Amino acid sequence: MKEYNIAVIPGDGIGNEVAPEGVRLLDTIALITGSFKLRYEYFPWGCEYYLKTGRMMAEDGLKILKPFDAIYFGAVGFPTVPDHISLRGLRLPICQGFEQYVCYRPSELIPGIKSPLADKKVGDIDFVVIRENTEGEYIGAGGRAHHNLNSEVAVETSVFTRTGIERVVRYSYQLAQSRRKNLVSATKSNAQQHSMTFWDEIVDEIGKEYPEVKLERVLVDALSARFVLRPESLDVVVASNLFGDILTDLGAAIVGSMGLAPSGNINPERTYPSMFEPVHGSAPDIVGKGIANPIAMIWCGAMMLDFIGEKKAAEMIHAAIKATTAERKVLTPDLGGNARTTQVTDAIVEKLKVMK
Ligand SMILES: NC(=O)c1ccc[n+]([C@@H]2O[C@H](COP(=O)([O-])OP(=O)(O)OC[C@H]3O[C@@H](n4cnc5c(N)ncnc54)[C@H](O)[C@@H]3O)[C@@H](O)[C@H]2O)c1
Repeated sequence: MKEYNIAVIPGDGIGNEVAPEGVRLLDTIALITGSFKLRYEYFPWGCEYYLKTGRMMAEDGLKILKPFDAIYFGAVGFPTVPDHISLRGLRLPICQGFEQYVCYRPSELIPGIKSPLADKKVGDIDFVVIRENTEGEYIGAGGRAHHNLNSEVAVETSVFTRTGIERVVRYSYQLAQSRRKNLVSATKSNAQQHSMTFWDEIVDEIGKEYPEVKLERVLVDALSARFVLRPESLDVVVASNLFGDILTDLGAAIVGSMGLAPSGNINPERTYPSMFEPVHGSAPDIVGKGIANPIAMIWCGAMMLDFIGEKKAAEMIHAAIKATTAERKVLTPDLGGNARTTQVTDAIVEKLKVMK
């Protein structure tokens, strides 16, 4: 029997409420299929750890995580810790240090869920945003000077490398090739005349290797309108770090809730472990109420299993999520229901047992 070692980092806020539900589901599917085992190690990293130690993760955190098969991550963010500290101290060092250059974020309208967009039905919204995940606007290059003077200045420089663009763009073409063969490249080269023209050039160059894929270059502002007006026209979208970050919250909103949006930070070469986490944050407005939607976290578990090689188990979880939402009986308040977090997991577990 195959055994996988999973590092679990629940993090902060509702991360601590949805991560245990995700693990419960993973344990269930491992038992049902009987073909693999998951061994977990928990890491208490996050803002509470920061308030105690001054660090978001152990100093040798990447060294500790490196041997794991995958990382299962909840969310970070705490009202009393500045967001740039929590993000830059934990999620970004993992994504950048482990060359998780593909941030894979599907937006799929699933049965029983009402999109805020009028008349959208299952099948109308089914696309993937591939967000560049290691450089661009989030590289962290810059600084501040002339503190407390009128001339105070802040500089934040985006960094785009040929290697960085080529690898994420090639992955996106390959994904489009395996789907409906449409790729939209999010750009802003009308205004960003250095970085985004470079991005566009490389997208065109790599496109020559994939003649079957239809490429569209769309300015990110027009693209955000298209997410709302014509989401059915989207198949795969490739975007820079910042553009992809913004577009995928919109992608989550149009499929019904932040609580339905999974995400995988992937190192396709498997040199390092990949990390699976919901798109949503720590949701301080609902923390402690027991009503966080666990579906995004559970879906991330399916993506993680798919990536480590347990495809059948991943498909079963995906199907069980859809069977649960289709009934509209057990849904958390973000989806118009009154179920609690644990009840949604219970319902998905029941669907899995029936599939057995
Ligand atoms: N990857 C991450 O860990 C990550 C991502 C985004 C934000 N954050 C952090 O999270 C904190 C809160 O940020 P925010 O409010 O902008 O974003 P958020 O995603 O935490 O919340 C946005 C809204 O969506 C709702 N929501 C989110 N997840 C939900 C779920 N599973 N079920 C039901 N409702 C859900 C929240 O209640 C809130 O109304 C900040 O500190 C931010 O820095 C972390």
